[in-house]
Amino acid sequence: DMSEEEQAFQARIDAGVKIEPKDWMPEAYRKTLIRQISQHAHSEIVGQLPEGNWVTRAPTLKRKSILLAKIQDEAGHGLYLYSAAETLGVSRDELLAALHAGKAKYSSIFNYPTLTWADIGAIGWLVDGSAIINQIPLCRCSYGPYARAMIRVCKEESFHARQGYDIMMKLAQGSPEQKAMAQDALNRWWWPSLMMFGPSDAESVNSAQSSAWRIKLFSNDELRQRMVDQTVPQAEFLGLTIPDPDLKWNEERGHYDFGEIDWEEFYNVLKGNGPCNKDRLRTRVKAYEDGAWFREALVAHADKQASRKAA
Ligand code: ACO
Repeated sequence: DMSEEEQAFQARIDAGVKIEPKDWMPEAYRKTLIRQISQHAHSEIVGQLPEGNWVTRAPTLKRKSILLAKIQDEAGHGLYLYSAAETLGVSRDELLAALHAGKAKYSSIFNYPTLTWADIGAIGWLVDGSAIINQIPLCRCSYGPYARAMIRVCKEESFHARQGYDIMMKLAQGSPEQKAMAQDALNRWWWPSLMMFGPSDAESVNSAQSSAWRIKLFSNDELRQRMVDQTVPQAEFLGLTIPDPDLKWNEERGHYDFGEIDWEEFYNVLKGNGPCNKDRLRTRVKAYEDGAWFREALVAHADKQASRKAA
């Protein structure tokens, strides 16, 4: 039983009209977008940390500059997304405060450690690869500022995925030790990457409403299947083995069947008990506190400029 306003809103969504910040929207639509966009923004920012761990140890100057550029891109993605969230009437300070207090979620994937250089390859290939699969449909989602932010984000993510695959290729074609390193990274990142797509459709509490509002155009399981189908041939090309004994092409479905995800591990990471949750949060809070002097200086400078103009 929707109100007349809600019916008109739903009709616009159904007709494929983009919703803009000043349009009327149901409070629950606003809330769900703030939830998703802010979680997404936090993921981009926290996602810099596992990779930042390897900037000083990149094997060549070229690899180092590529990695630096990629990490900077992630900061930019966070900024576009916080800005998109702000159009919904929430401030960046509030969002950051929720992250720093451990109340806001960010993607489970960034709570895993980067143990070797091959992890940087695996992240680009599998994590950014998954991010693209999840985010391409978001370019067509119903909320204008979010959809538009996603277009540029996806272009940059494609570069990230490509550089990751390039690292994997180099290692897979290298010495036996290098190939083993690539295999080990694939073993550790494969299942957490599948978890990025969220709980199974049966357990996904937000899916029905988000699909009706065209925030979600494909379900968690549909996108996860797309990731598996796309990645298996890429692993074969590298000569690496996906760590799933149940992985098998299903002729009838036209898709790969794959093994059961360890959902207990997933929910445990969401609760804050993953291998790096505490470390990630501590690092973010420290970065924020260490940057206080700079934020204060910016405000002081802006105040000075304003008073000069007034004089
Ligand atoms: N990590 C952490 N939390 C997750 C994850 C995950 N991988 N998957 C789902 N969740 C959370 C949801 O945020 C939701 O929590 P909440 O209700 O407390 O907010 C809960 O688990 C239940 O999941 P769903 O009902 O399926 O939630 P939703 O409809 O929001 O779908 C999804 C989850 C697919 C992640 C969606 O929010 C989305 O597409 N987000 C945009 C993409 C994104 O955030 N990517 C970040 C990683 S990629 C990158 O930054 C490089």
